[in-house]
Amino acid sequence: MRVLVTGTEGYLGSLLAPLLMQRGHEVTGLDTGYYKTGWLYNGTPLTAKTLNKDLRRVTEDDVRGVDAIVHMAELSNDPTGQLSPNITHDINHRGSVRLAELARRAGVERFVYMSSCSVYGVATADYVTEASPVNPQTAYALCKTLVERDVGAMAGDDFSPTFLRNATAFGASPRQRFDLVLNSLAGLAWTTRRIAMTSDGTPWRPLVHALDIAKAIACVLDAPRDAVHGQLFNVGATRHNYRVREVAEIVAEVFPGCALSFGESGADNRSYRVSFDRIHERLPGFSCDWDAERGARQLLAVFRHIDMTPETFNAPGFTRLKQLEHLLRTRQIDADFFWTAPS
Ligand SMILES: NC(=O)c1ccc[n+]([C@@H]2O[C@H](COP(=O)([O-])OP(=O)(O)OC[C@H]3O[C@@H](n4cnc5c(N)ncnc54)[C@H](O)[C@@H]3O)[C@@H](O)[C@H]2O)c1
Repeated sequence: MRVLVTGTEGYLGSLLAPLLMQRGHEVTGLDTGYYKTGWLYNGTPLTAKTLNKDLRRVTEDDVRGVDAIVHMAELSNDPTGQLSPNITHDINHRGSVRLAELARRAGVERFVYMSSCSVYGVATADYVTEASPVNPQTAYALCKTLVERDVGAMAGDDFSPTFLRNATAFGASPRQRFDLVLNSLAGLAWTTRRIAMTSDGTPWRPLVHALDIAKAIACVLDAPRDAVHGQLFNVGATRHNYRVREVAEIVAEVFPGCALSFGESGADNRSYRVSFDRIHERLPGFSCDWDAERGARQLLAVFRHIDMTPETFNAPGFTRLKQLEHLLRTRQIDADFFWTAPS
């Protein structure tokens, strides 16, 4: 298949593109490169040819001739979404819907969208399923629900969108993110040998390894159209719903000599357990290969290999909000998050 992956320069995209290429797909990428300075290690055998372009400036010519689009290029978490909710709507909602419209017009048959379990927000039910009501708490999560609604309505004989509500990712990627819970705790454990949580860590978080998300996407592309047409899938494994304190305990166990303490209150109000039964029942070939402990061991191996310093761990390129704030402060991007030329 000829596949266009948007967000190839990101945490998930930089793992997905080589995986798809290894599975025989012809992959091109598209990314504006906000986090290009954040390259942690050399670890992928192949890189996709990538168009350096903003999602909001994509044209029909950019999408013509491909069989499928995997769309990942958005502001990728709640804090970056809150930085400018208007821009978040421009990129994440309007930009994504426009991309799908261009794709449909250009005859692209498959469209795989990266949604998120954060659409469930503060869930009232335990083990929320794809049929549970959404309850988005932030601009980021709201945009995910709006794209699901608007692109879902475009499904037709010649256009099959699929929506993947990913759990919170973890694990190593060359374009690392340290603003994800397990990765952040692992980085702290390595650089300070201490995890001092301010909260009691009781909230639930479903976690999924970045490579298992990539595997889910590959399975969607391989699946018969009827299995994925207009479908929503939570991506993860039901046994991988962890309390944040369990994640901290696992990391502290894996990283030698790491002290661990907890605070008293729950600061973050997002808490939910998610059922991942549907994807395992309906998507041929999908299962999760990684749990939190294996992911923590993988990160330990990477940190050892590169002898990771605190400066690297704290560099803006690895934390989405920090990097966008840096690019804004230094006027490398303007108020609309478009790159500027040096004056
Ligand atoms: N990592 C997770 O835990 C997780 C969980 C659920 C959903 N997702 C979703 O998966 C997708 C990828 O996540 P990630 O962790 O790889 O994020 P990321 O921030 O590492 O990667 C996103 C990429 O998109 C690019 N991008 C952002 N805005 C753009 C624009 N306007 N034009 C062109 N490129 C743009 C960035 O430069 C970046 O390389 C996102 O849509 C995210 O919301 C991620």
